[in-house]
Amino acid sequence: MVKRIIDLRSDTVTKPTEAMIAAAANADVDDDVLGYDPTASRFEAEMAKISGKEAALFVPSGTMANLISVLVHCEVRGSEVIFGDNCHINIYENGGISTIGNVHSRTVKNNSDGTMDIDLIEAAIRDPQGDLYYPSTRLICLENTHANVGGRCITAEYTDKVGELAKKHGVKLHIDGARIFNASTALGVPVHRLVQAADSVSICLSKGLGAPIGSVIVGSKNFIAKAKILRKTLGGGMRQVGFICAPAYVALQENVRKLEGDHKKAKIFADGLNRISGLRVDKSSVETNMVFFDILEDSHIMVDQLCKILKEHGVLMMPVSTSSIRIVLHHQITESDVQYAISCTQQAILQLQSERNGK
Ligand SMILES: Cc1ncc(COP(=O)(O)O)c(C=O)c1O
Repeated sequence: MVKRIIDLRSDTVTKPTEAMIAAAANADVDDDVLGYDPTASRFEAEMAKISGKEAALFVPSGTMANLISVLVHCEVRGSEVIFGDNCHINIYENGGISTIGNVHSRTVKNNSDGTMDIDLIEAAIRDPQGDLYYPSTRLICLENTHANVGGRCITAEYTDKVGELAKKHGVKLHIDGARIFNASTALGVPVHRLVQAADSVSICLSKGLGAPIGSVIVGSKNFIAKAKILRKTLGGGMRQVGFICAPAYVALQENVRKLEGDHKKAKIFADGLNRISGLRVDKSSVETNMVFFDILEDSHIMVDQLCKILKEHGVLMMPVSTSSIRIVLHHQITESDVQYAISCTQQAILQLQSERNGK
């Protein structure tokens, strides 16, 4: 039986720390749906302050945070949102904005750094003169860090340009900032500056920050008031919600400063994998806590076989295609875990190669 488990599938797999459990157990709670929970209110006020917005709302998940945000911006029937073809909302959120919100989406190609060309975004904005035929563009979404391109950071300057474009055309800007603290750490730019141009941001607490549950939406007071109603509609109004905000508050206080270390471990991991014959990492894409690595075609190694052997050694990784694997670092992965996982990967590759040669 394997004792040492190194779970690199995602930064969502962290276990609550003792401090988080203690904070939950001792949280001062009330009924948030009836109007007020002191711990939730304190936490929301802190998140609003960090992001430089007027107000914040705690919600159960990042998916709900994005869904509510898009629906508030697109409350008029016939609304359309523009976002990258490779973004989380487009791919992994069950198409909720259309199935639940009746919002039409228009995708623009994501570049390998997670941006979209500004002129392509502009070209995708519908001409209001054609509103007899076209849906109405009401929103543009960015994702920072951009998960599917390897956790790459979107700069404040780029975001500002998209914000200017949005203003010029009278549309809103939402940022899926599930890992905005990772971006802030890697770029050395405060969160409030990174999201200055945005009308709303969704921020996950249960990813890089390591809280067990939750996300927040930040925006203007008016926006958050509407978001609160939609949260209730979607079943996301929670009673003694301070019980889960308290560990998230600990995550905020204790884990933001650990992100730099996670990014360093990701780079060490990438270097280690690049030394293994048959594997390749584009090191320039490793900006935060994610590493995507490719299995070279002439190595004849199957992703599923490699992940299966690694699992037998207690090392868990996530296949993302038939030729690539994703690993995500978090605060509960040590440098020794990284070295161990690299060496298991090396051994697994050797095992697969010798099995192939023995055929
Ligand atoms: C970029 C991004 N946005 C949103 C989400 C959705 O978060 P949740 O899993 O909490 O619904 C994720 C989840 O991995 C994500 O990576």
